[in-house]
Amino acid sequence: MTYQEAYSKLEEYGQLHVLKYYDELDDAQKEQLLQQVDETDFSVLQYIDHKDAALEVKEISPLAAMELDEINRRKDEFTRIGLDAIRRGKVAAVLLAGGMGTRLGSDDPKCMYDIGITHPVYIMQRLVENLMEVVDAAGVPVPFFIMTSDKNHDKTVSFMKEKNYFGYDPSMIWFFKQEMAPAADYSGKVYMEEKYRISTSPNGNGGWFLSMKRCGLIDKVHELGIEWLNTFAVDNVLQRIADPVFVGATIASGCASGAKTVRKAHRDERVGAICLADGKPSVIEYYEMTPELLDAKNENGDPAYNFGVIMNYLFREKDLERIVDEVLPVHIVEKKIACLDEKGNPVSPEEPNGYKFEQLVLDMVRELDTCLPVEVDRSREFAPIKNKTGIDSVESARELCKAIGIEL
Ligand code: UD1
Repeated sequence: MTYQEAYSKLEEYGQLHVLKYYDELDDAQKEQLLQQVDETDFSVLQYIDHKDAALEVKEISPLAAMELDEINRRKDEFTRIGLDAIRRGKVAAVLLAGGMGTRLGSDDPKCMYDIGITHPVYIMQRLVENLMEVVDAAGVPVPFFIMTSDKNHDKTVSFMKEKNYFGYDPSMIWFFKQEMAPAADYSGKVYMEEKYRISTSPNGNGGWFLSMKRCGLIDKVHELGIEWLNTFAVDNVLQRIADPVFVGATIASGCASGAKTVRKAHRDERVGAICLADGKPSVIEYYEMTPELLDAKNENGDPAYNFGVIMNYLFREKDLERIVDEVLPVHIVEKKIACLDEKGNPVSPEEPNGYKFEQLVLDMVRELDTCLPVEVDRSREFAPIKNKTGIDSVESARELCKAIGIEL
């Protein structure tokens, strides 16, 4: 893109300040900035002005999960259906690991975090070990796609290589990068990270399918005959991946998606609750829950929104193709954004100073129309690591691992 073209694009979006330092830059930096202007989607900034409208839902109502007693009763049936699909190569795993993981206070990708005590046990290692259990039971490899972002791609790829993929067959692993979105101040002006670089951050965990499509990996999915994609978060070290019971239950239900859920530990647990939004299966994030919803009861007198998603979803691939061109809502999240001050000096703010723009995987559930929420035993499947200490931390995850005999 030429300077003139960049100028016109920035002018259209009210972002001419991006060129403030242009004359000070060397040729390579000038080129880098112009390329970034060319590649950046500034249209997300418009959502600041009508940020609630995009997410507006008229009516929230409960959606029952398939509970553990029923799952245990039908376990053999579900396992048979799930293993059969896995053996026929119909199921792939998709790790969503493009997030920044800043809450752990490490600059490294979250998957590289070592939770071991007597010997190293990396988060990625735990995930691969869990997937390997299914590979061993099924007797076939499960294709494994790993989403990273510009911020952590190289480190993630070299870490996996250095660790010899923790014993996983590398010919069954594909990495791909998600897209980035600009970060802006409260008035919608994008921040600059350097004089030659706009502040950007990964665009949320909802763009994974589109990113896979853009880089040709959906062609690979078709070539391999995969029909179901199991997406999951990087931070849960007890995450069961391509779990035959979950796969079997979802297939048997005829739904286009399945969502693993846990019974909430308490009213205010920070998990998204499974529900119906305007009659469609959805996930309502904990920060969007009103006191009325938190206190609502079902006909049995139990909390009506008591099942939280653990960010482990199964999606029928052909249904994702149907919705890929539909625009998912853009969530506007207040965050701390590293930027330049008025004089062009770098600043790392202590408090949130602007907005990031994210599309979320949970919105795909609503787009697909049908979803089976499946309850899992939280003591065996849910040990998220969001913080260093306290709730959902390295400490709590270690305790949960130890309780089920995982040596750390
Ligand atoms: C997430 C879920 C929440 C669920 C909880 C369970 C979302 C928005 N929220 O909350 O419903 O109850 O997990 O622990 O999904 N990621 C990317 N790219 C991004 C941003 C995130 O790949 O741009 C990945 C992260 O690497 C991580 C996962 O998405 O694997 C979860 O991300 P995070 O934004 O931290 O969501 P939580 O607040 O933990």
